[in-house]
Parts: sequence; structure tokens; C-alpha cells
Amino acid sequence: MSDSTDNKEGSGFMGSIRRLSRRLSGTVLSADSRDVKAYLVRNDKRNIYSYDGEDQLKVGGIVLKELAEEYGTPLYVYDANRLVDNYRLYLGSLKNVKNFMLCYAVKANPNLALLNLFYKLGAGFDVVSGGEIARCLAAGVDPAKIIFSGCGKTVEELTVAVKADVQCINVESWEELDRIEAVASRHNKMQNISIRVNPELNLDGLSHPNILTGSGGHKFGVPIGEAVAIYSRAKASASLKIKGISCHLGSNIDKLEPFIEARDRLLALADELRQELSICVEHINLGGGFAAQISGASAHVSETPAADTIPQWVERLAKPITERGLKMVLEPGRSLVADGGVLLTKVEYVKAPPYGQQHPIVPGQLKGGHEASAGLTTEFKYNVAGPICETTDVFHRDLVLGQKLESGDYVIIVDAGAYGSSMTSNYNTRNKPAEVMIHDGHPTLIRERETYEEQFKREKLVLDLKLKSLNTVEEAESQEDLNNAA
Ligand SMILES: Cc1ncc(COP(=O)(O)O)c(C=O)c1O
Repeated sequence: MSDSTDNKEGSGFMGSIRRLSRRLSGTVLSADSRDVKAYLVRNDKRNIYSYDGEDQLKVGGIVLKELAEEYGTPLYVYDANRLVDNYRLYLGSLKNVKNFMLCYAVKANPNLALLNLFYKLGAGFDVVSGGEIARCLAAGVDPAKIIFSGCGKTVEELTVAVKADVQCINVESWEELDRIEAVASRHNKMQNISIRVNPELNLDGLSHPNILTGSGGHKFGVPIGEAVAIYSRAKASASLKIKGISCHLGSNIDKLEPFIEARDRLLALADELRQELSICVEHINLGGGFAAQISGASAHVSETPAADTIPQWVERLAKPITERGLKMVLEPGRSLVADGGVLLTKVEYVKAPPYGQQHPIVPGQLKGGHEASAGLTTEFKYNVAGPICETTDVFHRDLVLGQKLESGDYVIIVDAGAYGSSMTSNYNTRNKPAEVMIHDGHPTLIRERETYEEQFKREKLVLDLKLKSLNTVEEAESQEDLNNAA
């Protein structure tokens, strides 16, 4: 538990850790409500967790405390039923599913078990690296179901994609177009492509600025003003086949309007391409980015969208696309998996003031329900922080709970299914967590906890290391030698 207020994320490796903390903006609940019945922050029936009659917190019918004891913590726990439900939400309201391709964005959670589950449901896959292609193949995915996006594709990655006959490559720059053409030509392939255009919308305030991608100046895609020219260049190629137009606005966007605006810009471009260049695209790919249907409010989602928002959104977006005989492609990640997973972890220490704020708050009015029946008159306020040696490693500030947390208590961080495990790092040489998927009341370990040996098995000592000015400890005859050397 800590008390810091630095919110800057920064870029690179450390930025990832900070973003992880931010992206896991869920609610913390106790996994063992020994003392009181009472502090479900919300009682949303869509939550995958609930307390049983004996006050034990469960996911998918499994007591989390037992999972923690068997597999250790921290532990990601996924509910397969929720992942299936979320997938079906997308398909739910579409009358003409043949003209809709749903591609799961692998980056949100790339565990093979999740990929295999979505593949069995009929999903396609949006990948952004050779590693994600390799994962899909390892999970049994047909390459014809893979769409390859990403702004820094290497020749090696493109070669793998072209040779595997992935369904489509979303081209992000003029140079990349040349590169794909060269790779396809070298392997005598005709490669399907779509240009990822940047629709250059004003997205201010629609999500955290670090996860928006569809405004002017962002590094992704080709500016929409250059689109006709690059399509004309692609049309002239003997190794490229134009299939569609793509875009991706960003992530965790809880309004439909920007997607509609982007769709309309892409449809206008499709018209222009047909009229000016006689190019007839087959699909419009609007990327991912829908906010997760999470159980607690996140930084940018003012209130939890109803679960049935998704079918309505999909239907509204699809209508003018499918009416023109085009296919709509979506690449959701977060909204498919976020609320399907929790991070189960254990309280190590509770710091007393002044280092942390742990002070009782006496509510002015006693609420009814659980709290009253449990005789609660006190609330406890915590900053929930991780062990990483970074000030920003904080999951929740000023969390008010109806019970006191103690060292050894288990807690869960909810809505951790997306960009949780996939953004873990080994910073501070901590092992990546284990992961469990619960299906039909049975837990399966879908990722073993990493070991220290696995972390550093590719590192080597320089065996004949001789330092000019300093003896090694073995060679030094005395501490005095060492001091002299220094
Ligand atoms: C090209 C592309 N498609 C889809 C996604 C998935 O976005 P989300 O998880 O917000 O749905 C991303 C995320 O960054 C992306 O870059």
C-alpha cells in the first residue's frame, strides 16, 4: 500500500509497467470475506465473481482461495463461459453474419487456450507481430483467418505471413507496401492487402491519450489524404491484390459516434476509389476499440455500458457497409476478454500511516443490506499498490472497503482479462504469473508460473572477464588489496 500521486506514464519499458497499472483499472475485492459478508463494491449480475453461502469468493464455481493455495499468487483466472458470452454478443444481432468477420485482437490476451477457444467459436485473428502469428498457428488457427496489422513489420515477419498465406496484410506505410510487394514477388505469391488509413479524427477526451491511434500525427496508418495515391500505387503491382480499407481509432472508447464517423470516411474513400481508380474493395475494417463491458467504472468510461450495447453498435455500424455488399471486419480485443478475467493476489503488507492511509471512516448514515446485517459501522480506506520498485505501481487509490485487510488476505483485481497478462514484464526479476481457465466448473492451468531459471537461462557470464584496474574477489589476497585496487 503506498501513497504516491505521480501519474506520468512515459514510454518504453517502464511506460509499459505504468500502462499496465492504468489499464488494470478494476476494482479490488477480498477473496476471503471471513469477517463480514459485505463489501461487494457493486452487485452487478454480469460479474464473473460472487460470494457463496460461506462467504468465499468464487469464479466459475471455483473458490479462489483454493486456486491460490494450489497455484500460488499472483494468478490470472479466466472464466471461459464469459469469453464465449462476450463473443456471442458480437454475433448476436447480425442477420447476415456472412458479411461480418470478427477478428480477435491477439494483443489483448494471447494465451493459446484463449486463442483456441475463440477459433473454435469461429473467430478470425488480428495480429501485429511474427510472435502473434506463431501463437495463432500453435493454437491451431488456420492462417486464412489471420489479418496482419502493425506499424513495424520486419521482412522476416512479412515473409512468414506471406508464405503462410494469411488472409490479409493491413499496410501501414508506403515503404511497407514496397516491402510486402518485394516479399510476395520473391515467393511468387499474390498477397491480399488492405491499406490502414488514419482517418484523422478529433478523438480528444474519448480515451486515455496514450491509447488513441486515429488522430492526425499518430504513428499508425497512412494519412487519409494520401489514401487514393497509395491505392493507385498498390493497384499497379503484380504481386498485391487490394481487398479492403482499414482503420483503428484506439482503445477503450465508450461512444459509438467516432466509429460511425470513421466508417463514413472509409465508405467515402471506397466510393472515391471505385470512381477514380475502378478499385472495388471487398471489406471495410473498423479495427477494435470498444470499451470493455466492465463491472466498475474505468478512468474514461463514465458509466458501465450495458452488455447489450455491443450488438446494437455492431448492427448500426454494419448497416451501410453490408447494404453496399461489402463485408464489415471488426478487431475487438478488450471488449471480448477484459471482464472475463481477474487477477488473484495476496496482501503482503498493510502499511500504517503516515506511509499509507489506512484510517477508519465512520459513515454518516448506515446503509442497508449486507453492511447493516453484518453490523458494520466502519470503513477502511486503502491505496492498493504492487511490489514493483516504481512509484506508479498502484492499482487503486483511496479504495474504501467494509473490512480491514490483513497480510495474507487474498484479493482480486477484477476486469483484468485484457492487457493484463499480455503486458506483464520481468522488471525486478519477478516471474510472470500463472494463468488458469475455468470451464464447466473445472480449472485448467493454461500457463505455468515462470521460474527464475527460465528468466535468465539465455544470459551468460563472461568467463574470462579480467578487469584492468580491479582484482576479482578470488584473486584478492586481502580486503586491503581490494581497497587498493579500488
Ligand atoms: C490494429 C488494432 N486492432 C485492434 C486492436 C484492439 O483494440 P481493443 O482491445 O481496444 O479492442 C488494437 C489495439 O491496440 C489495434 O492496434
